[in-house]
Parts: sequence; C-alpha cells; structure tokens
Amino acid sequence: MSLYLDHLATLQRQAESALSRTGHDALVIASGIEKYAFLDDRPYLFQANPHFKHWLPLTNHPHSWIAVRPGRKPLVVYYQPHDYWHVPPEAPSGEWVEAVELLVIREPEEASKALAGIVTPHTAVIAEPDAALPGLLPNNPERLLNLLHWARGAKTPYELEQMRAAQRRAVPGHVAARAAFLRGESEAGIHRAYLLATGHTDRDLPYTNIVGLNEHAAVLHYQYQDASPPAEVRSFLIDAGAQVNGYASDITRTWVAPGHDEFAALVAAMEREQLALVDEVREGVDYRGIHLSTHRRVARVLREAGLVKMSEEAMVAEGVTKPFFPHGIGHLLGLQVHDVGGFMASEDGGVADKPEGHRYLRLTRPLQAGMVVTIEPGLYFIPMLLAELRASPQASHVDWAAVERLSCYGGIRIEDDVACRSGGEPPENLTRDAFAGIGAA
Ligand code: GLY
Ligand code: MN
Ligand code: MN
Repeated sequence: MSLYLDHLATLQRQAESALSRTGHDALVIASGIEKYAFLDDRPYLFQANPHFKHWLPLTNHPHSWIAVRPGRKPLVVYYQPHDYWHVPPEAPSGEWVEAVELLVIREPEEASKALAGIVTPHTAVIAEPDAALPGLLPNNPERLLNLLHWARGAKTPYELEQMRAAQRRAVPGHVAARAAFLRGESEAGIHRAYLLATGHTDRDLPYTNIVGLNEHAAVLHYQYQDASPPAEVRSFLIDAGAQVNGYASDITRTWVAPGHDEFAALVAAMEREQLALVDEVREGVDYRGIHLSTHRRVARVLREAGLVKMSEEAMVAEGVTKPFFPHGIGHLLGLQVHDVGGFMASEDGGVADKPEGHRYLRLTRPLQAGMVVTIEPGLYFIPMLLAELRASPQASHVDWAAVERLSCYGGIRIEDDVACRSGGEPPENLTRDAFAGIGAA
C-alpha cells in the first residue's frame, strides 16, 4: 500500500473511533473560504482548514468539503467553478481521487445539496463560522476535536515524508540566503534569493520569512525587509520555511560575516548546545524539561563567554537567562507551523501547564514517537529586556561592556525540525539531514 493510502486508512480509523466515542454519525470538514478586505474586492491569501488538508493534498481549494462516514469511502465535494477571472482548481487528479467518492460542484452553495443526505443533527461539522451554508452549520464539537488534535501530534509515515520534502525545499533557500548575505545584499535581496532557490513565491511560504541583518536579529519576529543594505553587514538571522502538500518546515540559521570572531564564537557555542538539545528529543521525555535544560545551557554559554559572572545554577534560579532567551524552545510542527494540541493534558482535553514563569512555551506534552518538534534555542541582545536586567539586583554580575560590544549583532537563533523516534532511539534531525543531503553544513 502507498504511504498516502496508508495515511488515509489511519485517519479513517482515528475518525471512526472519535465519532463513536463522541456520539457523532459523520464528520464533515470544509476546506474554507476566501476572505475579502473590508470594502474591497481583493481576497486575503487563502488559508486552508488544516483538518481538510490533513486528508487531502489540496491547499488552494476554497469551498470544497470532505465527508467522512464510518465504513464508507470519504466523499469529496470538489469546487471547480467556471471562472474566467481566475484559474479554477484543476480537474481532480492524484492518488487521492481513487480513494474517495467525488462530486464536482460549480457554485459554493451546491455543497448544501451535495451533503444533504449525510448531515444530521448528530454530524460534526468542522469549519470556520464563515463557511456556513444552509444545512451546513459548523459546530466544531470540542470533545471530537480534542481526540483528533491529540492524534495529529504523531505523524504518519506519509506525513513524515512530506515534512522531509519540505526540508529539502527550504534548505537550498537557506544556502542561497547565506551566499546573498556574504555578497552584502539587503534584507529584501536576501529574501528574493531565498524565494528563487526554493521555487516558492511569498504566497506559498508557511509563514512570513524573518530576514534580519545586524540589530534586526534581536527582533524575534522581525517583519520588515530593508531595501538597502546597512553600511556594515555583520550578522544575519534567517527564519524561513517551505511547504509541501500542506506540510511546513520551520528553519532558522544565524550567520556571521568574516572578521567578527567574538560573535562567531558565541554562535558556535549556541550551536553546540542546540545539537545537545536536539539529542534530548526522545519518546516519553517531558518537553518542558528540554525548555528548562535550554536555560541551563544558555547560562553555560553566558558564563563561558564572560557575559555573566554567576554560577549557572544561580543564573537560572534568579532569572538572568530569561532576558537573553525570552521565548520557548519550540513547538509542534506539521500542517500548521505552530501545530495544534501542544498544551493538551490528554486526548480528552485539559491543559498541561507551562513551567511557572515560562509563558511563551508552546508545547507542554510528553514527546511521542512520530511527533515533529522544533528545537530553536536563542541568545539575543534585546535593548528593552537588557534595560530591565540593568535595573535589577543582578546587574552587577553582567559585563555590560561586552553586552554593548555584542549588541550590534542582534542575536542568535538556531532552529531544526526534529522527529521523535520510538523506544528511546536518537531523534531524526530532518533539517540537518536535508543540509547534509546537498553537501551543505
Ligand atoms: N518561525 C516561527 C517560529 O519559529 O516559531
Ligand atoms: Mn522559525
Ligand atoms: Mn519555530
């Protein structure tokens, strides 16, 4: 059996079990609708319902639906309008077509009639509220969603293949971006080099590229791209992914221009710790522990570099690492860049708490085989947070001259996407494997 058909069979099994446990007779999922700017006729970029693209490799198909019924093939209601203003979706093709019953509609409203024989008061309809049609009212039952979101944490072999492909697509972009940085290009120029090498346009990216030179690397989600290069180019942080069949990669690299050895040494120290953190991704491990381990490792880097003169234990206990590493170590990755279900206590819902004082952590579940997580430690020089540290009792332990010297580099983040294996096996580093696959470090 193909990986995709096997994936579909897994989803069917999971859905049937979730339906029977929650007293639903069928599961109907909308692909989503295009949304328009206020008082305008221009749509925003279409974002498919992740539940829909979980079943079908269709990411640019508004107004389509899938209905899942126990013991039957899924029914796909495929919207293919007669439209000469836009390119309509192509005629259905691909492996999925044989695995489903197919019904083509030409108007969005025809979905009501197409699904009328399936939808009852006991049907789960998973859709955004705006996708409602007569007889097709989204109800998004929480208990059912919990079961599906929990199950989605562990990827099928098909999904892992898509995610490996999303790495292979992003990595040439990272290599080209580094070369553009070393040529002295602007942030906008580097971004264009990334797009060219990945074959993506901005529309295809799983999230807006973060392309920051020098101090801009200190802005965690820096959202602009300067059109001209700065007078001196010292450092470069790029957080950029790619998408394959609806699955994302999410990769960050920090590069240093030649001759900036002090900052280069700090990047090397962070990379050493990042690789050690990747190695902590094992079945059964509490991801919150990896986050706390990151603070201990950042403390080690800060102490070894002479930036903070305290013991590592005291540094962590007194919160001195937090202004330097003010985000979580990572998150679940898959159909969404920040994939759902990261805080679930069990498949029945509930919340697995974040460690106290660590509100930006996005994953608190124990790791399961098949989960893909990011490992993205950082060390930044963020003026706003350093000002607070400077006003605190711990300020006297910080070498402020060194902090000022290094602030012109902005900061460091190194992010890999990592699949957890079973039985305590070392993890699969999807990102590093893809870099190695094209002979790049
Ligand atoms: N690219 C966003 C993140 O790393 O979470
Ligand atoms: Mn990222
Ligand atoms: Mn990330």
